[in-house]
Amino acid sequence: MRVDVLTIFPDYLAPLDLSLIGRARRQGLLDLRVHDLREHTHDRHRTVDDTPYGGGAGMVMRPEPWGETLDAVVASGAGVPHLLVPSPAGERFTQAMARRLAGEPWLAFACGRYEGIDERVLEDAADRMPVTPVSLGDYVLNGGEVAVLAVVEAVARLLPGVVGNAESLVEESHEDGLLEYPVYTKPSSWRGRDVPPVLLSGDHGAIARWRHEQRLTRTGARRPDLLPPSAGLLADGLDIVVATRGDLPELLVLQWACWVGEGRSAGSFDIPPLAETLDDLVGSLDGWTTWVVRSAGRLVAAVRGRMSTDDRRTWETGRLMVAPDLAGRGIGRALLAHSESAAPAGTTRYWVNTGARSERNLRIYRKAGYRLQAGEGRYPGTVDLVKRAD
Ligand code: ADE
Repeated sequence: MRVDVLTIFPDYLAPLDLSLIGRARRQGLLDLRVHDLREHTHDRHRTVDDTPYGGGAGMVMRPEPWGETLDAVVASGAGVPHLLVPSPAGERFTQAMARRLAGEPWLAFACGRYEGIDERVLEDAADRMPVTPVSLGDYVLNGGEVAVLAVVEAVARLLPGVVGNAESLVEESHEDGLLEYPVYTKPSSWRGRDVPPVLLSGDHGAIARWRHEQRLTRTGARRPDLLPPSAGLLADGLDIVVATRGDLPELLVLQWACWVGEGRSAGSFDIPPLAETLDDLVGSLDGWTTWVVRSAGRLVAAVRGRMSTDDRRTWETGRLMVAPDLAGRGIGRALLAHSESAAPAGTTRYWVNTGARSERNLRIYRKAGYRLQAGEGRYPGTVDLVKRAD
């Protein structure tokens, strides 16, 4: 791959001589050329900037040195490069973009400084070559050079032969939309911290499962935006799917909305589902399995289930909720049955809890075979209901 970098600070690109990228250059896998824009100025001060038309703070890069340098770059090769313009106003640089760029034969980077490059430079270039403004992220750097270091490294390491162990490219953060799992090496115990035992077990299946869970948990905690809300449709039947971290904000809103009615019938809004926060729901993913149902993209129903923590033969179902406009269609009943069907072998009892005065819920549970337990339920103002599991 050929890469040309146009800049007024060629020394900024020196790190591209180091490490794997430097080796790739020496091996001829990467033909990287850095061009000093000031070489294409014609005044004594080698001026590259001027004040902005229309006024405003700062300086703008003049078009002439850019035009001349780009002309020289284009004339030095066959075809035209794809011109990337680092800018906080650009398209977000991602691993997917890195992969696309790694498939191209020739990239050029236009490193702006000051308030930016005269817009006509990009228009003129776009008449001859593809031009893409690229942003590293939502923050402002002093110029494009640091972005070029990042983009060139991310792209060049995907070129065949640049990274020795090609497998290490596959199991990486962002390659499949999830963050990487944590890694450990020797010693197995350090400062009182032990490597997770599963990694020492030699059980490759268990290790793979543990790593996958770690990736999901980590992505949920650090980058929930990467976890798409689980898909699901209310077409022929219900598509009941396990909830992901990405479902939780909507789930919380549905929960609050559904339990307002409960609060009203109970005469108190001091009830756990209304006091719960997003963090509580995130925490509940540990221990409970939550299922959701979507209709036309909207989260319309949910339920959760788990083995009781103090009686390992009782399966608990909770937070059964259905959006008010879809009530009465059997969705709640289907979700209750779905939770019960997830109970492991050995379960002898199903358990639910609801407001003592929630007539509608009580009717649904009775119809599903649950019987009221004597006395107050697990929470004040509630009752428990149980059903034998056969
Ligand atoms: N130049 C200045 N800020 C930048 C950013 N966030 N990404 C890419 N190039 C930049």
